[in-house]
Amino acid sequence: MERSPISLEDFRFDQSIIAKRWMLLTAGAFSPGAFNSMTISWGSVGQIWNKTFFQVVVRPTRHTMTFLEAGDAFTLCVFPESRKKALSLLGAKSGRNGDKIAESGLTPVPSTRVATPGFDEAELIVECRKMYWQDLDPSHFLEPEIMDNYPKKDFHRAYFGEVLAVSGTDAYRA
Ligand SMILES: Cc1cc2nc3c(=O)[nH]c(=O)nc-3n(C[C@H](O)[C@H](O)[C@H](O)COP(=O)(O)O)c2cc1C
Repeated sequence: MERSPISLEDFRFDQSIIAKRWMLLTAGAFSPGAFNSMTISWGSVGQIWNKTFFQVVVRPTRHTMTFLEAGDAFTLCVFPESRKKALSLLGAKSGRNGDKIAESGLTPVPSTRVATPGFDEAELIVECRKMYWQDLDPSHFLEPEIMDNYPKKDFHRAYFGEVLAVSGTDAYRA
């Protein structure tokens, strides 16, 4: 996919992409077996501490969390609709049980500012440096229905990542 660097000033991201198109969250370093990816459809983009950041929420059961914990970065990729099947696979199988990335047909590529790879087929790659995490505390859930998301009590850990670099198609440029 033809992408080019986008400055933070020019970066335009419609947050409805996260739920509708999904994103691929990757953590770890770019060498065989040293990184893992999983599909996400919950998260956000915003501003904090005068930085642009993405927030992702990851259940502790995810293999990807091991890499998020060990490393200092993550990447987020958006793919064309034609790759939704690959995202479904990466969101259904665990990297713990085999090489699902090879099975997905996606091609890892080095990032520019972080050790974690992005993917060549992506139309958007966001490189983030981990800057904060916090476990969601069920005692702070103000709506009882929120608990319905946690029959196994595997409450998400939220990670804030400062956006260090963006590369994308012109659809993400002001
Ligand atoms: C559309 C979609 C969205 C998902 N969103 C999330 C999410 O936001 N957080 C999460 O922890 N898991 C989410 N998942 C589940 C993980 O992607 C899934 O459990 C994956 O197999 C974990 O892989 P891993 O064990 O290799 O890390 C989602 C799955 C799908 C299909």
